[in-house]
Amino acid sequence: MPASTVDDVVTVLITGAAGQIGYALAPMVCAGAATGPGKKIALKLLDVEFASEALRGVKMEIMDCAFDACVSVDVFTDCEKACEGVDVAIMVGGFPRKQGMERKDVLGKNVAIYKQQASALASKAKKDVKIVVVANPANTNAKILAKFAPSIPRGNVTCMTRLDHNRALAQLGERSGKATIEVKNAIIWGNHSSTQYPDVNHATIEGKPAREVIGNDAYLDGDFVDVVRARGAAIIEARKLSSALSAASSVCDHVYDWIHGTKEGEWTSMGVISDGSYGVPEGLVYSFPVTCTGGKWQIVQGLSIDERSRKLMDESAKELTEEFELAEQCLAESA
Ligand code: NAD
Ligand code: LMR
Repeated sequence: MPASTVDDVVTVLITGAAGQIGYALAPMVCAGAATGPGKKIALKLLDVEFASEALRGVKMEIMDCAFDACVSVDVFTDCEKACEGVDVAIMVGGFPRKQGMERKDVLGKNVAIYKQQASALASKAKKDVKIVVVANPANTNAKILAKFAPSIPRGNVTCMTRLDHNRALAQLGERSGKATIEVKNAIIWGNHSSTQYPDVNHATIEGKPAREVIGNDAYLDGDFVDVVRARGAAIIEARKLSSALSAASSVCDHVYDWIHGTKEGEWTSMGVISDGSYGVPEGLVYSFPVTCTGGKWQIVQGLSIDERSRKLMDESAKELTEEFELAEQCLAESA
């Protein structure tokens, strides 16, 4: 009997599984970090033919971890077979940004992959598959995926900005000298790129407004924003590789909260398809503050947006609109 016909078994697909995020993520998923306690995991790992030997090695290592929750691990180089029966699809596969490369350099290569994999997910995955796109340009890859998989509910296609959200919490914790867990309700608006807007206007530290606790608006409107925006680039500079451990951990946070719900009074940030909330053009995959309940996300409504925030939010929306136009152009040229 296929593992995923059993109710408490979640079939999780990781694409790009032979890569560095995949290597950090697969054991976290098998330890239950994404799906939570009480669930068994049927793990499916996809990569390209060129990486099939490395992928085989990852499978051997996962088996050798003897995770209690992992009922099976299968490797694929055929996307359609990999997508069969999938409940949660973590889309990491693609070309990473290397030192000195702009995100736009990798756009053309990656959107073509997401167009192709959209069809495989639509035809083979479970009808209510939850999808999180990690590979850059994450928001635009997710928008392409949604466009070419119209049968998948719009709300099921997301992209990861949780890493940026976690980076914001960590910076606020460090600056205030408080534990990161005491920092709540920061927001990442927009694109997973250097135009993202890390917003502290509604954030709290130990229940008090973050602006009051930190008491330094120049820092919060200046260096804080710059550090969070450029954290990915700083890690590439230091490691000569893009973030992997923190990316994998944030994927698990994203999926866990989506499935199990955010805590009362707290929200997180997720890249989701805009419904026009906060004046963000409808259809863009844009990072919003969201709460999750019953396996669904909702955009937090009614937050006050000051003039400075409005400008920064609009700048990121503009970049996303242009990025999507460029993606469509790349797809048209390669057709
Ligand atoms: P990596 O190069 O180590 O791994 C990528 C893997 O994808 C490789 O094994 C490659 O063979 C595979 N791949 C390429 N084309 C594929 C396809 N068509 N199907 C399946 N697999 C395919 O890169 P990485 O460091 O693991 O990063 C993966 C992606 O995640 C990159 O695009 C990176 O920029 C992005 N990233 C996003 C965030 C975020 O917060 N959203 C954070 C870190 C990295
Ligand atoms: C990150 O935020 O760490 C990655 O998205 C790095 C990158 O490729 O920009």
